Amino acid sequence: MQAFYFVMLCVISFFALVFPNGFFCLADDTNRETGSLCDKADKNPVNEDTFQTNLKTLLDSLASNVVDSHGFYQTIVGKKPNRLYGTILCRGDISANNCFNCVLNSTRVSSNDCPKSRDVTIWFRWCFLRYSNESFFGDMQGTATAITNETDIDDPSLVSQGLSFMSGVAAAASEKSFMFHTEVLNFNQSEKRYGMTQCTRDISRKDCRRCLDAQLVNFETFIGNKRRWEVHGLNCFMWYDDYQFYSNVSTLLSASWRLSSCRSLVSGITVVVSAALLIVF
Ligand SMILES: *[C@@H]1O[C@H](CO)[C@@H](O)[C@H](O)[C@H]1NC(C)=O
Ligand SMILES: *[C@@H]1O[C@H](CO)[C@@H](O)[C@H](O)[C@H]1NC(C)=O
Ligand SMILES: *[C@@H]1O[C@H](CO)[C@@H](O)[C@H](O)[C@H]1NC(C)=O
Ligand SMILES: *[C@@H]1O[C@H](CO)[C@@H](O)[C@H](O)[C@H]1NC(C)=O
Ligand SMILES: *[C@@H]1O[C@H](CO)[C@@H](O)[C@H](O)[C@H]1NC(C)=O
Repeated sequence: MQAFYFVMLCVISFFALVFPNGFFCLADDTNRETGSLCDKADKNPVNEDTFQTNLKTLLDSLASNVVDSHGFYQTIVGKKPNRLYGTILCRGDISANNCFNCVLNSTRVSSNDCPKSRDVTIWFRWCFLRYSNESFFGDMQGTATAITNETDIDDPSLVSQGLSFMSGVAAAASEKSFMFHTEVLNFNQSEKRYGMTQCTRDISRKDCRRCLDAQLVNFETFIGNKRRWEVHGLNCFMWYDDYQFYSNVSTLLSASWRLSSCRSLVSGITVVVSAALLIVF
């Protein structure tokens, strides 16, 4: 009986240790959908069954390959005229698990919100999904959406420095191997701004730079005087804020960027519990 109590205590304290704030495998800051674009679906689409079959294959393939390919994957499914082109990109600082889950969530949103559309873009904070029946790989496009808080006006003395800082963060991303960059702007001891930029890795470095620069110019009046903003495009992305919203290192670069399984954790607990039983008996 005593042994039984000991084991129960062991199990409870182990869970308390491993799951201090709920479930272990979910962490980081919060993710959410930030926008979507679906072209109008045909009223009488041709080959709808083939399209749906190909779409399912495409989305499955994007989800199952995104982690192995360090957060960026493109694939083509099916034969013309039913061919589909798909791209997935995860934000460069998030964990492999969050990347994978974000991809699953974005494919779920696309299936719910744009079930028959042949050209779909889904933006999440942590990942970006696009597919189309027309080829778009390597072809830099300027479409973008900006998110900010209208009332979140920054100190005018900081605005122009902030914009030129982001221009530098844009230039740096285009030169990085994963076209992803983060940087801190220190106005003074207490006042800092954090910038992050990323491009899809199918475009050239020159186009990455052009894409980000164009966003800064096009949205200047909208974001220019703001303290925090995000711009989500089809080939490039920018984030600006007054706190460190990203992880310190680019996780994409690390060799250990892979899915950590909750199942191995559970079997770890079982091993610990069994070991405890062995010791007691
Ligand atoms: C995915 O969606 C589920 C259910 O809405 C949510 O609990 C989870 O946090 C989401 N994960 C990511 C990475 O977006
Ligand atoms: C893609 O789908 C749209 C809408 O169904 C159609 O008008 C267009 O011709 C298709 N393009 C190709 C290359 O099949
Ligand atoms: C916008 O910013 C203001 C001031 O910081 C804040 O009070 C408000 O809740 C924000 N609105 C949204 C929608 O985040
Ligand atoms: C830092 O700069 C901001 C904006 O110009 C100013 O309001 C603040 O007083 C400065 N803080 C220090 C410690 O200099
Ligand atoms: C990340 O860097 C900031 C300073 O840039 C530091 O304050 C913070 O402790 C670091 N966080 C981690 C998890 O290393």
